[in-house]
Amino acid sequence: MISLSNALEEKLKAALEKAFSVASEPAGSARISLDPQLVTASKPEFGDFQANCALALAKSLKESPRAIASLIVDQLNADKSFLRLCEPPQIAGPGFINFTIRSECLIEELRKRLIDKRLGVHLVDEALPREKLGTVVVDFSSPNIAKEMHVGHLRSTIIGDSISRVLEFRGYRVLRLNHIGDWGTQFGMLITYLKDVAPEALERPDAVDLGDLVVFYRKAKQRFDEDSLFQKNAREEVVRLQRGETLSKKAWGLICHQSRREFQKIYDQLDVQLTERGESFYNPLLHKVVNDLDDCGLLVVDSGAKCVFLEETFGKDGKALPVIVQKSDGGFNYATTDLAAIRYRFGEVPEGDGAQRVIYVTDAGQANHFSGVFEVARRAKWIPPDCNLEHVPFGLVQGEDGKKLKTRSGETIRLRDLLDEAIQRAKVDLCRRLDEEGRQEDETFIEQVSATVGLAAVKYADLSQNRITNYQFSFDRMLALQGNTAPYLLYAFVRIAGIARKGGDLQAHIDKIEFNQDEEWALLKQLLRFDEVIVQVEEELLPNRLCNYLFELSQTFNRFYDQIPVLKVEEPIRSSRLAICRLTADTLKLGLGLLGIPTLERM
Ligand code: ARG
Repeated sequence: MISLSNALEEKLKAALEKAFSVASEPAGSARISLDPQLVTASKPEFGDFQANCALALAKSLKESPRAIASLIVDQLNADKSFLRLCEPPQIAGPGFINFTIRSECLIEELRKRLIDKRLGVHLVDEALPREKLGTVVVDFSSPNIAKEMHVGHLRSTIIGDSISRVLEFRGYRVLRLNHIGDWGTQFGMLITYLKDVAPEALERPDAVDLGDLVVFYRKAKQRFDEDSLFQKNAREEVVRLQRGETLSKKAWGLICHQSRREFQKIYDQLDVQLTERGESFYNPLLHKVVNDLDDCGLLVVDSGAKCVFLEETFGKDGKALPVIVQKSDGGFNYATTDLAAIRYRFGEVPEGDGAQRVIYVTDAGQANHFSGVFEVARRAKWIPPDCNLEHVPFGLVQGEDGKKLKTRSGETIRLRDLLDEAIQRAKVDLCRRLDEEGRQEDETFIEQVSATVGLAAVKYADLSQNRITNYQFSFDRMLALQGNTAPYLLYAFVRIAGIARKGGDLQAHIDKIEFNQDEEWALLKQLLRFDEVIVQVEEELLPNRLCNYLFELSQTFNRFYDQIPVLKVEEPIRSSRLAICRLTADTLKLGLGLLGIPTLERM
């Protein structure tokens, strides 16, 4: 209802201007604020919107708030165009003004939405050509080579994908970057170890799996700690790799390739698109980061390490904490790479991305890392005017016992196993239901529905939590058909598809729309809020707002569906009801789509 609330706000501003124009201000007083303070009504019985300005104005004008409110209402009631938009306003409590949009206007909005693929959500800046809008970089997922992708990476992948989808839908150019951990001294160890025990892994792209690499990595580290000759060889290997020697580069490339294959399976399964640009990409820019920090006078050498000290951040000992950009052995850090990446993304480097906003989706444990890195970039003046860096943190994924998520035998859960289990459990639920309902379905149906529901459940469970808090992973809860779950929302959509199968033409053109039941109006008003919710998600980067909205929409729809007959009524009521069913289906489909969840016609 953004267009309606904007229209109402304009009328209110005009009324305020008329009632309290400068002329009536007491001489010498400061200019009073004529902001209508319009908000969404807190309860449906108060109408649709509420203006709170009378209370603030009463203070400046030394009048009673109700008297002020009634002056405003008089102005509004004298405005014909206002009365076409709203019912006569009501003054409530100490001086709030409540507004109810006229039903004709709501129906008009419904008509507009029925022919608008974007369902009322405007492009971010329609006046600007797309290429003028700055790019938004969303840095998400970002697992590490030769390590299993863990549930934290899953969270980052799901949240980052949804944020990217919302921003893309609003019309931004989004660069979805996978900042893979593909560089570092550990590769020296791993290559040296593989040369010895599994040389084929350094020759063929498909010789080993990520699982094998993880084991090799663990053993390599053990050998490194115990064996001084191995240590020496591994260090020499790092030097060769950093120098870019062909054989070392090739071995490194093969290791990356074998990890990447496994990551890609997960991305394919989740339908997530990412452009890989790992840490190694920024190698050639690292020296310049250190030199330029030195030139700005920000660098301090502390026990041989090159650091930037930030007075605001303190360690446990009360001393200022440094951001270390080059270790005493000459090696660079995670932070150095992130600094180089910032410069590249903002386009400090000629071929860079020209981003306007860079969003990092990682666990909250990296908050200090990012605030340090962002502050260094700010001091070095690497953040162009009107550009932003944002860390989008999320909490831990916990098991049902509130502890770290583990398998029964106490090991970390492999993501592929976790997703497969969700699908498997969805299949068991589905087969039980089919049995109870005496339905016969073929194998393709069962496979497709279980995969969609299982993956949707995992994604939705994650997205529907406020991302900042820790979240408890529970297959039972996320797969339940009742409650704020993916199956519940998917089922609402299936009900509407069912209406169509029973002969309701959802696409039919309608001339006359007429509603006469509270459930219809409640559903329509809920539908018209979609545009506000999307804009809010874009601003706060909180996909759970969209989840809550879709959940409430499904509940409102289910109340309508249970109480109100759709097919067995006369025209024009029948077509009118079919029309809101269709808008409900479209809104659920688009909304779930922005969460990365596809809908089903039957389940
Ligand atoms: N690879 C890192 C990890 O697994 C996440 C990288 C996040 N992105 C970044 N630009 N630092 O924790």
